[in-house]
Amino acid sequence: VVPERVRQSVALSWDGRSLRLLDQTLLPAEERWIEPRDAAGTAAAIRTLSVRGAPLIGIAAAYGMAMEIAADPTPQGVERAWRTLRTARPTAVNLGHAVDRVRDAALTAAPDDIAAAARSEAEAVHAEEDAASAAIAVAGADLLEGARRALTLCNTGALAAGGSGSALAVLLELHGREPDLEVLVCETRPLLQGARLTVWELARAGVRHSLIVDSAAAGLLARREADAVIVGCDRVAANGDVANKVGTYGLALAAREAGVPFVVAGPASTLDPSVASGDQIAIEERGADEVRTVGGTALTLAGTSVRNPAFDVTPAALVSALVTERGVVHAPSAATLASLLGDGRRSEGGAGVSRSSQGSEDRLR
Ligand code: MRU
Repeated sequence: VVPERVRQSVALSWDGRSLRLLDQTLLPAEERWIEPRDAAGTAAAIRTLSVRGAPLIGIAAAYGMAMEIAADPTPQGVERAWRTLRTARPTAVNLGHAVDRVRDAALTAAPDDIAAAARSEAEAVHAEEDAASAAIAVAGADLLEGARRALTLCNTGALAAGGSGSALAVLLELHGREPDLEVLVCETRPLLQGARLTVWELARAGVRHSLIVDSAAAGLLARREADAVIVGCDRVAANGDVANKVGTYGLALAAREAGVPFVVAGPASTLDPSVASGDQIAIEERGADEVRTVGGTALTLAGTSVRNPAFDVTPAALVSALVTERGVVHAPSAATLASLLGDGRRSEGGAGVSRSSQGSEDRLR
């Protein structure tokens, strides 16, 4: 039987019934795919970071819902799938958005259509994230036009999204226009998404890059060794405060001090108008062994007390621009974000919101 609807991303594939995920915990040493069969299996893959990155965990969770609901197409099955997945990780809002969408679609469908409605909604989430990546890449590259050196954190590319990603997608688009582009990649302790994943993507794309330890970033920015910092986001509050991979706030402070633009890129699904400001965003704290060990080797004394927040919050005042598929928000604030969210397509020209390709006055440099 030929699968009805195949949707393929770099790290996720869906054939209409079953889900395959590239196990990102093993990259770059090994490219192994795993096949969660239900909501619990998908939630486990999200918790362990086999699948990660705000947009991609939303897509994976949507398909986890679809699989669970296909096996039990009842309102009880829908609720069970939703409960299992919604809290798999707390910070990236994309996960909650995606599972709420699939639940709502399933619960408003006729009884015989519950499974099909869940599946269609999950596929719509995937398609929308895919399209968002493409638009973000172009808008961000327009904004950064002329930049030759950029610094980034974590992994925000195709491994983190349905399409080409957010911040890293911008850099790949920029590389297409400026082949001399050079990227400084923060290794991103403790799980090394920069060293393991962003380097993997940049090498495959033929983009010049250098890996740096996270603590080198501030000094390199002070020496103006980057023309811009660009990062992704996991949740943007109504006032423009940005939760993203731990270390983002420090980069933003260093960039401000050095006079280097600090740009955040992410799909509209990462905006959370229900949260007034960043101090209300739940910050995931992960296990101590992620810090105490690397690759199973102890780095410190066994039992050492650890704090391991996976994310931090950067105040909107430190953000030069927020790039979304709906446009670029310069100096994000409650007013400019409300304008962006008010009506996606007609936001162009709203207060502080622009299509970055409008003209050079919209560029950062
Ligand atoms: O813990 P992770 O690897 O899921 O964290 C990912 C990030 O913080 C990314 O910057 C963010 O999700 C944006 S991905 C396009």
